[in-house]
Amino acid sequence: MAFDLIVKNAALPDGRVGQDIAVSAGRIAAIEPAIAAEAGRVIDAGGRLVAPPFVDCHFHMDATLSLGLPRMNQSGTLLEGIALWGELKPLLTHDAVIERALAYCDLAVAQGLLAVRSHVDICDDRLLAVEALLHVREKVKPYLDLQLVAFPQDGYYRFPTAVKNLERALDMGVDVVGGIPHFERTMADGAASVRALCEIAATRGLLVDLHCDESDDPMSRHIETLAAETVRLGLQGRVAGSHLTSMHSMDNYYVSKLLPLMKEAGVYAIANPLINITLQGRHDTYPRRRGLTRIPEMRAMGIPVALGQDCCMDPWYGLGSGDMLDVANMAVHAVPMTSREAIAWSFDAVTKVPAAVMGLEGYGLEVGKNADFVLLQAADPIEAVRLRAARLAVVRRGKVISECAPRTATLAIDGRPAAVDPAAYAPRTAS
Ligand code: FE2
Repeated sequence: MAFDLIVKNAALPDGRVGQDIAVSAGRIAAIEPAIAAEAGRVIDAGGRLVAPPFVDCHFHMDATLSLGLPRMNQSGTLLEGIALWGELKPLLTHDAVIERALAYCDLAVAQGLLAVRSHVDICDDRLLAVEALLHVREKVKPYLDLQLVAFPQDGYYRFPTAVKNLERALDMGVDVVGGIPHFERTMADGAASVRALCEIAATRGLLVDLHCDESDDPMSRHIETLAAETVRLGLQGRVAGSHLTSMHSMDNYYVSKLLPLMKEAGVYAIANPLINITLQGRHDTYPRRRGLTRIPEMRAMGIPVALGQDCCMDPWYGLGSGDMLDVANMAVHAVPMTSREAIAWSFDAVTKVPAAVMGLEGYGLEVGKNADFVLLQAADPIEAVRLRAARLAVVRRGKVISECAPRTATLAIDGRPAAVDPAAYAPRTAS
């Protein structure tokens, strides 16, 4: 039997080594050692890691690559970022949003990032960004899964036409219900918005993903309402709380009650370490809070946690490159969580956990699943996170859609040439 593609001698994220991966008709046909068959193309992984594609379940594609338009964020705060985005919004054009989004999708694909959940701001009566990203969603479908969230950036109740615009956006085909309860005028309005948005999702049979408690205020407790509404409306497994940074500052006793409620509700938590570490703690002097949500404690409770990128060169963040290994690496540092187990977990948090958040069909490195995967210049997930490893090949539905050469340097020191491969160093012990 001839396959379309065989990847030889791969290491897999679950620890198996020396595996061949055979692909037929866009799906994984076999994973086993030493597959002896013809193939249209053969890639020698050389013992390196082949992983399912990276997934970013929290991003803002309507704002990406707009850094400097119309000016820079001087304070670096979330609130100036929102104000700056408000200045840019009336200046957006359909074509410019599409052009930047497509440029970002190219960048993402080159990094093996093949699925993105993007919030799209509906606080604009033209719904220009919604129309633009719906176009982009179709355009990139052959190579990237784009899921859109109707996001009332200026408040579901605070922006005069957000209630109507959110329904309009969902009618146009936006996939997920979003919200921003901590930005409503009052805590009570925030809680009311959570209830209303969950009811919309229940009625329409949609997923929910709210920007929730993105502040250092320990009394910002909208995640409690989100979890309670999830239980009340039977939305278990369909709801995500993004950011949850106030949890960093909450009273420990309160958190000991909150975590079991989140577990009971089956809500996903999405932390965005690049952004949380840079936007939170801005009102502190010293000591300065890091602002990340309580990832190890949620993991211990069995609450699924995914890591998102949130921003790439936009009013909130001037860095970013579409590299989800950068996101995982930052989480390891900022939490901090440096055990081998936790570093390995951070790789799952930018691959299979966000795939579950998005409900991606056919995702995973298993026979019968989509032939979507990435060959990394690393031996295992921990090495991939440590090195933010090069993506040597990116495969979508069995076709190689991006390739790059391994990172190496040729030294000439004291007259002796030496090739340095950043992936050549392994730890002295396995644990
Ligand atoms: Fe966000």
